[in-house]
Amino acid sequence: MNESNQIIRLVYASIATFKPYSKMNSKDDSMVKANEYIANIIEISRNENVKNQIVGVLFYGNGYFFQCLEGTQSSVEKLYAKLLKDSRHTDLKILTTHAIDKQGFSGWELKFATINPEIRSFLKNHDMASFNPYQFDPTMTDTLVEILQNV
Ligand SMILES: Cc1cc2nc3c(=O)[nH]c(=O)nc-3n(C[C@H](O)[C@H](O)[C@H](O)COP(=O)(O)O)c2cc1C
Repeated sequence: MNESNQIIRLVYASIATFKPYSKMNSKDDSMVKANEYIANIIEISRNENVKNQIVGVLFYGNGYFFQCLEGTQSSVEKLYAKLLKDSRHTDLKILTTHAIDKQGFSGWELKFATINPEIRSFLKNHDMASFNPYQFDPTMTDTLVEILQNV
């Protein structure tokens, strides 16, 4: 198989450049803005991912994004190059990237998730007071991806 046709999974963390929900003041409209930002990202991403045969999940929590992308190496690398230039988030860090035999998110042009009981117990099991994907090692990254496949 040509290397660029190989199916890969890339997982990265980033920091949203809009205000996180938890730090928002109900008197201002930043909550609305964050919801709008995320809704826009998801809408565009789903359309693009269908075209590019990419699947995956986007998790938003505590002001951080955690995203898993699965597709051919060339399509995922092209998307990652775009993501690096997107000013809606910053400080992108690849947590894991490797070839896979089977997509974990097939049928999901982009699943979206936020904090839920499974993720709270995952954080508790790893002695993490709050969600911070920059502290994840590859095993934790794989575990969270697996949790996100099943929520
Ligand atoms: C956190 C985050 C996740 C994103 N996920 C995707 C994605 O899965 N697929 C995608 O095509 N674009 C995604 N985008 C949007 C891209 O950065 C880019 O705006 C979009 O692909 C349109 O790019 P273009 O107008 O240059 O073609 C995401 C953006 C952010 C901030």
